[in-house]
Parts: sequence; C-alpha cells; structure tokens
Amino acid sequence: MRQVNLAIIGGGTVGGGVFQALQRNGALMASRLGMELRVARVAVRDVRKARAVKIPAGLLTDDWKAAISDPQVNLVVELMGGTTTARKVVLAALRQGKPVVTANKALLSAHGKELFAAAQKHGANLYYEASVAGGIPIIKVLREGLVGNRITRLYGIVNGTCNYILSRMKLEGADFSAVLADAQRLGYAETPPDLDIDGHDAAHKIGILASLAHGFWVNPKQIYTEGIRAVTGQDIEFAGQLGYTIKLLGVVKRHDEQRAVQVSVYPALVPNSHVLANVNGVFNAVYVRGDVVGDTLYYGRGAGQDATASAVLSDLADAALDLKSGVKSRVAPFVPHERDGRVLPLAEAISRYYVRLNVADKPGTLAKIAAILGRARIGMSSVIQPEGHEGKSVPLILMIHDATNTAMAKAMSQISRLPVIKGAPTLIRVESFE
Ligand SMILES: NC(=O)c1ccc[n+]([C@@H]2O[C@H](COP(=O)([O-])OP(=O)(O)OC[C@H]3O[C@@H](n4cnc5c(N)ncnc54)[C@H](OP(=O)(O)O)[C@@H]3O)[C@@H](O)[C@H]2O)c1
Repeated sequence: MRQVNLAIIGGGTVGGGVFQALQRNGALMASRLGMELRVARVAVRDVRKARAVKIPAGLLTDDWKAAISDPQVNLVVELMGGTTTARKVVLAALRQGKPVVTANKALLSAHGKELFAAAQKHGANLYYEASVAGGIPIIKVLREGLVGNRITRLYGIVNGTCNYILSRMKLEGADFSAVLADAQRLGYAETPPDLDIDGHDAAHKIGILASLAHGFWVNPKQIYTEGIRAVTGQDIEFAGQLGYTIKLLGVVKRHDEQRAVQVSVYPALVPNSHVLANVNGVFNAVYVRGDVVGDTLYYGRGAGQDATASAVLSDLADAALDLKSGVKSRVAPFVPHERDGRVLPLAEAISRYYVRLNVADKPGTLAKIAAILGRARIGMSSVIQPEGHEGKSVPLILMIHDATNTAMAKAMSQISRLPVIKGAPTLIRVESFE
C-alpha cells in the first residue's frame, strides 16, 4: 500500500490529538483510503517537554525547516498556531510543492489571500477544515456539499468559550466574571480571554466562512465585531422573559438590493423557538440557507483535542486521495468568483433591537423617548417595564422594529442625553432569521 509521510509541525493539544487519533484509527483510514498515513516527523519547540500524548523521541525535532524539507515527507501539517512562524512554515512547504493541512484560523484570516496564491503558484493544495468550528465539517459543506447553491444566509455560533459563558449565565443566573473565571479554571477559556470574549476568534472563522460562501476574500478589518463583555445577567433574564436567548452570533447576510454582504459578529437575541437558541455549552452550530437547498444545520464540538483532530484527519484523507490520484487540487482552497464582492458597512445594515434603559421613575419619561424615536422614524414593537424594580431609576426595555444602525445610533445618543436617562443605554440586536 502506498504511504503518505507526514511532517506534523506542533505536538500540542491538536498535534498530540492528531497523533493519538492516527494511532487509534490509522488502520481504518488506510483501508478506507487505500493509502497509509505515516507520521515521519513531529516538530515542537522543546523536545524534552513532558507531553500528555506520548510521541516517540525518534520522531521529535525542534527543527521545523528540516522536518518539512525531509525528502520522504510529502504532506505537511501545521498545528503550531500563531501567524508569524506558522506563515513561514506554510509558505516554505508550499514552495517545495508539498500540500499543507492547517487548523490555524488566525493565520488564514490574516494571510489567507497570500497563502492561497502561493498554493496555486506552486501547485500544492492547502486544506483547512479544522480552522472553523472544530469537528463540524463546515468547510466541506460550503465548498462541496452546497456548491450548487447561492448562500443567502449563514449564522454561526462558532466560539465555544462565549457560548459556554452565555449558556451558564442563562441556566444558572450566574454573573459574567464568575463564569469566565470558572471557564479559565476548566481550560475552556484562555488567559487573557480577549481573543474569544471580544469576538475576534469568531470573526476569524466567520470571515473564512463568508469568503467561501460569497466568492471574495473578506478582509477581517471589514467585519464588524462586538464581543460579550457588555452582556449582563439582567439582559439575559429580560431577554428570557421576552422569549429569547442571547448568543454570540456570526452573521453573514447577502443583500441583493445593496449588492453587498453583511459580515458581522455580535451578541444577538435569538427566539427560543429557533434551533440556535438551544445550542448550549461549548457546542458550536452553523445554520446555512442556500437558494436551492433551503435551511440546513450543522452541530457539534467546535474545539478541543478530539473534535479538532477529527477535522484534521478529514483533510489528511483528502490530501492523501489527491496524492494518490495525482490531482494537485481536486477542490481548490479558495476560488474567487465574485469580482465585485463588497462587505456591507454595518452602518447601512438594518437590524431589530432590544434596548435597555435605566430611567427616572417619573410620568412623561416614555413620551420623551417615543418622541425622539418617532422623529427618527424608528418604530417600537413593544415597551416593557419589568416588575419588581423600585428606586430612583428603573429598567425600561424597548423592542425596536427594523432600523438602520446609523439611525439607531443617532437616536440613542439623543435619548441618552435626556435628564431622565440614568447611565448608558444597552443595545443588543434581535435576529429574526428571515
Ligand atoms: N486547541 C483547540 O481546541 C483548537 C481548535 C481548533 C483549532 N486550533 C488551532 O490549532 C493550532 C494549534 O493549537 P493547539 O491548541 O494545539 O496549540 P498548543 O497546544 O499551544 O501547541 C502548539 C505546538 O506548537 C509547537 N511549536 C510552537 N512554536 C514552535 C516552533 N517555532 N517550532 C516547532 N514547534 C513549535 C509547540 O511546541 P511545544 O509543545 O514544545 O511547546 C506545541 O507543540 C492553532 O492554530 C489553533 O488556533 C486549536
């Protein structure tokens, strides 16, 4: 049986997981593929470090350049993370005509265009299933399963840390900082946690999915990104009373009339009747609407050693089959087919809103707020004053009809200057999934 010889660069959580999974299921994969996947080298930073997954000393090296240049190596697996050395690793392998598998969403988000161009130039494919939503094969879905569709909507819960925090805040009435501390203790959140809770990790992944779905490379700087730091237990509770669950959503919406695609990441109220409201804990889900297929849903573990290893194995299989059949890239890493593709600035996008104000408990307050919204032609669908709140200021919840983000920001700035408003208003978008 023919062999594919792998150089795995990185023997940490994912690298160790891939090594272990190949030990467990390598023979099964070989029988399915007709090709044996053999680990030839594993490059790490420190070969003497104690590792949770034992890797034979004879395979370990701290010289990634030598590992990828090894003449017997014909497939390189980049699992080191980061964007500086990892970029050099991927480019060096591609320049040698060796296909590369990577799980590195930060690298793709920052340098995707350059890496795809290098893959094309050197006739070596780049595979990246593990870079988005861990064990969910969403890249394959967009590039192959739904290739016959125009993707009109894509919504993703793609950051397990944020979903874990929001789920526990809802289910236990727990406070954001207490749950975050717990998540860090359990290893679900990094220290510092900024990349996850400020929405940047989700933006890296949503940018990749949006690019694949719409055929032009989305610059991460164009993705409006808002994390979950400002979501309070009170908002989760009030949203619950209104029949919603707050989720950090990646939102990709095609707007034909504006000839543009909205690509954003923000916390949103999701109706409890929608399936995404029930995706809890560290789980991820991606909801995709195609013009031919209709609505589809993909659910699973979005990160972690085994889920991510499963996605890497899928790429190893594709790479092995391409090598076996002598096809450089049966499926190209990225096919830009929308020359005039444009990301819709969020200011032009239309959203529904949940607004929480702290207002002086005085007659006439609502009339003043309604007058400002009326002048801005922004309609309210409901106004709720939650019971059980007393004192000089009390919460007031407004549910706002469709309004442009610009009109809403202007109206909110006027409302917050009213003497009856205490503190800054809280605005959370409401997703209707239309
Ligand atoms: N962890 C997840 O759940 C997950 C999920 C999806 C995607 N990913 C992505 O997978 C990638 C790897 O993540 P991870 O969690 O496995 O990271 P990790 O546990 O920190 O492992 C990184 C590995 O890279 C090695 N390394 C770092 N610099 C190196 C260098 N200059 N030369 C050789 N080896 C070097 C490290 O060596 P030492 O062991 O000697 O320090 C370590 O083995 C990242 O891009 C991440 O975004 C991770």
